[in-house]
Amino acid sequence: MFTNTHAHISTWVVALILFVAAILLFRQGLAKQMKIVHMTLRLFYILIIVTGAGLFYNFASIDHMTYGLKSLVGIGVIACTELILVRMKKGKSLTGVVVGLIVTFLITLYLGFSLPIGFDFLR
Ligand code: HEM
Repeated sequence: MFTNTHAHISTWVVALILFVAAILLFRQGLAKQMKIVHMTLRLFYILIIVTGAGLFYNFASIDHMTYGLKSLVGIGVIACTELILVRMKKGKSLTGVVVGLIVTFLITLYLGFSLPIGFDFLR
């Protein structure tokens, strides 16, 4: 499970769908439903980290620096999605965290797809 990237990709794709669903539910005023989706999303944060940590544990020796950076920026993506949902609920400004999400997400995809395990079409 932790030596191929499919489980890892599946967890963050599901998380992305849950993140968008939580935003849409919030916009429709369905706070209770949003809360359930948000809690499920938090479970997926753990699954993303567990599958990512598994990959890191198995392959970081290939290139410690870049694998470390990939993992940190991946955690940054999770931090941004969580902050966006919490700040949205509180009615706080979202500009900074949305920019943060776009930047960390693009860097994560670039590093992930250029590192040697799994798909590496950006190498
Ligand atoms: C939402 C957050 C994240 C996204 C969008 C993401 C995305 C990706 C992508 C696209 C890949 C490449 C898959 C492939 O080539 O088949 C990957 C691989 C990887 N990810 Fe993540 N990731 C995230 C979070 C994390 C976290 C939190 C960690 C560490 C705890 C992590 C560690 C890794 C490692 C070690 C690899 C293997 C790199 C390689 O291809 O050689 N990721 N991730």
